[in-house]
Amino acid sequence: MSDDRLIIFDTTLRDGEQSPGASMNLAEKIEIAHALRELGVDVIEAGFPIASPGDFEAVQAVARQVNGPIICGLARCNPVDIDRAWEALRDASRPRIHVFLATSAIHREFKLKMDKDEIIQRAVEGVSRAKGYCDDIEFSPEDAARTELDFLAEVVERALAAGTTTLNIPDTVGYAVPSQYAAAIRHLKKTVRGIDDVVISVHCHNDLGLAVANSLTALKEGARQVECTINGLGERAGNCALEEVVMAAKTRGDFFGLRTTINTKRLHPTSRLVAHVTGIQVQRNKAIVGLNAFAHEAGIHQDGMLKERRTYEIMNPEDVGLPKTQLVLGKHSGRHALRQRVRDLGYHLDDEQLRKVFDSFKALADRKKVVYDADIEALAEAVIHDSPALWTLESFHTSAGTGTLPMAGVALRHADGNRYEDAALGDGPVDALFKTIERITGISVQLRDYQVRSVTVGEDAQGEASIEAEANGRTYRGRGISTDIIEASALAFIQMINRVAMRFPAREDKMRPETARADDSQPTSSAAAS
Ligand code: KIV
Ligand code: ZN
Repeated sequence: MSDDRLIIFDTTLRDGEQSPGASMNLAEKIEIAHALRELGVDVIEAGFPIASPGDFEAVQAVARQVNGPIICGLARCNPVDIDRAWEALRDASRPRIHVFLATSAIHREFKLKMDKDEIIQRAVEGVSRAKGYCDDIEFSPEDAARTELDFLAEVVERALAAGTTTLNIPDTVGYAVPSQYAAAIRHLKKTVRGIDDVVISVHCHNDLGLAVANSLTALKEGARQVECTINGLGERAGNCALEEVVMAAKTRGDFFGLRTTINTKRLHPTSRLVAHVTGIQVQRNKAIVGLNAFAHEAGIHQDGMLKERRTYEIMNPEDVGLPKTQLVLGKHSGRHALRQRVRDLGYHLDDEQLRKVFDSFKALADRKKVVYDADIEALAEAVIHDSPALWTLESFHTSAGTGTLPMAGVALRHADGNRYEDAALGDGPVDALFKTIERITGISVQLRDYQVRSVTVGEDAQGEASIEAEANGRTYRGRGISTDIIEASALAFIQMINRVAMRFPAREDKMRPETARADDSQPTSSAAAS
């Protein structure tokens, strides 16, 4: 591979999914993997197969269905993890096993309780076992950025001799600063035998807001793989943002002299897809993909822009896939126009899914004068999310107003076919709605965030409700879309409840057959939204 080629290793489906509340279902992961392939990433880290049956299934499905990129699965340095990773990856046309083991003093002493010799032995055994399955092996000394440099050099030299083909240097806790991280890469390049025969990779977390800066300095030292995620998703403050590192390398090609295979016009659609699927929206002023990234407010800037765009813009918005104009469809638009628009927006729906989107598109077009891209995205995502749900909304009714007690009545259908009804009072109609759903499902949560926004423009715009809640120490999100914001709120709450139910099914005794009783008894949650 030529020296100016930068390998883009995307870990949205693995490290990105470790963001609190970002867990995705199988269909969502496959959709994102297809979008990443279309974006042109070289490697997709599809998950950590030993972590759960769901992770295993997702890695296996991506390995079987997504052709082109290398498909990678993560494993700790132990036989059980590595065997499981291989089982998930074996059908990929280009599989990679990624083994990791912490090397820093603090991890050795407190987490692993291993001395330096044991670490070296485990690393060598892990890489060798993985090598028995496939040629393409990545090794990561976890917390490398806080590891004594001489010991780090010793471990990686032994891991390279055992068969590592990509050597990743993680800044696991986002502790490094650019010059120090660059010096570590320089030290390894100078001292480690065999390092020139492998690809050096960087994996930076963003705890100090330096993930992209640290990654870029390492590229100047000869690293040729960067590990990153869409929208910078990831543990805690996240990982290096793919869109930022790619556009920095491209825009400052004069400085870095590197090229990638990323189709940058897919950056925006991919970012939107990931934001919608995970429910984690990007901040307005986020570089490259934020709503304000190409907006000019100051008069002087606007004047300069009108005279010559490059006075205040270092990138062309169209190069990152920001649509110049929003195409609109209406009730006379046909199946073909919709299919094309869905594709252009970056979705990969099969015929059955397209049929469902078309049906809901027609229903929506009857209610709205024009249907915008964001409406179509919402319909496509509803179909992708459409995994078998434990609970679905049958009907609801709310009442509220000055001088009346806000109340809600809800009917839900359980996957067992039964219909359950209940009613409750609340601080407002939405609070009453949520309380009733909690009563019916027997699942109570602590509501952390509830937002409603308009998906598009106009009085007939669809409303999007997003919910973040905590249950059993974990964060869950839900999203619902409707022209009625109360219905959108109910759909978002039920989606979140279904995600909780997948992990912690409610007690059967909490579920009641058909009852229709309104009272003011308190639900189990202190959640309040109105
Ligand atoms: O941050 C980290 O160290 C990791 C490793 C598993 C590569 O994610
Ligand atoms: Zn990480």
